[in-house]
Amino acid sequence: MEQRVAACPRLEGQVVPPGDKSISPRAAILNSIASGQARVDNVSPGADCLSTMGCLRGLGVEIAIEGNGVSICGRGRGGIVEPQDVLDAGNSATTMRLLAGLLAAQPFFSVITGDHSLRSRPMGRLIQPLRQMGAELRGRGGDSLAPLAIRGGTLKGIHYHPPVASAQLKSAVLIAALFAEGVTVVEEPAPSRDHTERMLEAMGAHIRRDGARIELQPGAALSPLDCRVPGDISAAAFWLVAAAIHPDAVVTVSNVGVNPSRTGILDVLRDMGARIQVTNERTEGNEPVADITARSSELVATSLGESTIPRIIDEVPIIALAASFARGTTTIRDAAELRVKESDRIATTAKELARLGAHIEELPDGMAVHGGRRLTGGVCESHGDHRLAMMLGIAALVADGETVIADAGAAAVSYPGFWRDLGLLCRT
Ligand code: S3P
Repeated sequence: MEQRVAACPRLEGQVVPPGDKSISPRAAILNSIASGQARVDNVSPGADCLSTMGCLRGLGVEIAIEGNGVSICGRGRGGIVEPQDVLDAGNSATTMRLLAGLLAAQPFFSVITGDHSLRSRPMGRLIQPLRQMGAELRGRGGDSLAPLAIRGGTLKGIHYHPPVASAQLKSAVLIAALFAEGVTVVEEPAPSRDHTERMLEAMGAHIRRDGARIELQPGAALSPLDCRVPGDISAAAFWLVAAAIHPDAVVTVSNVGVNPSRTGILDVLRDMGARIQVTNERTEGNEPVADITARSSELVATSLGESTIPRIIDEVPIIALAASFARGTTTIRDAAELRVKESDRIATTAKELARLGAHIEELPDGMAVHGGRRLTGGVCESHGDHRLAMMLGIAALVADGETVIADAGAAAVSYPGFWRDLGLLCRT
């Protein structure tokens, strides 16, 4: 699908972003192994979460979609069954990696694959700790790529230091650890998003946390968790940046998850001088939620690296767009992980924004964004990456003239209503 977006004279209104793309699959997976029925509301409507649910159904879990929620019939510990066919995680690395942790602990054989993008993403780092726990895993490319073939079994707890701060790796090991003999400890180089830990705590797992160190004692039966998934801050980020870089804008994004492990975008935008207000803070389930308003702002460049990166890992393309409008040069370092996301986001962000007139230098582990540019509409493409598609949609709102975004339908991976919401916010 191709999307044409014209420059927008005024941006104004309220958006309710879709349910969080990280929390939704965790709620589906963990409730599938809990003992009893759970109701999860405001589940992500994106294709990724449908992939999670498709895989869980393949493992014998009954999941009924009801309105914007799901009801999940938890099969309890030991209740999921050997899939009759290959499981397909689609574009969702969260699905593949978290389920690999679960499958590693099951006494059966399974194969999990994904789309072209997911089959090119690193899986060796996932295979390594699960093997160390006692599972048999094989993959293409010398056990480094999906499809993955998994023969699970009796696992033992490990002390694991992931090579990168990755919530997916951490969560895979923690889910496997629920079934292992003995305690498992995960110590991350920097804290990554902690939705799995919060959910496990709420479901009664024996989990202890101390900064980036997590200890899980196996054995507890998980209780089903009825919850409402907060709106996705990574989706909200597009509207916040849109308002900040637009000369005539005020946008409120409601019902947004503001878990501190995800709110790096708010800190970065504020450091750049953006006018951002967080109101109506509350807690829903075990997660903090708020409404966020952003207004037209004069931005200045910033410098990002090290421990900030895990807190903005999905927001770098939209931060690069904000930086193109800031005074000065913004540097983003220590972000080599971006090269193995849904696309190589360092290369695709630099290339596609350059087509609209931005000036971004690629660095091996990040980029230097030379700000203070005006963008001009043109033809660009998403590379099948949902976050690229949406970032280019926001760029188009502030570029002179019309922009054509090829493969814009990729946005539906996390935000099927994105183009509709963009149209609603744009006032002529
Ligand atoms: C996610 C973790 C991050 C993030 C991805 C979702 C998750 O990946 O980029 O979009 O739900 O755990 P890594 O864990 O690989 O950094």
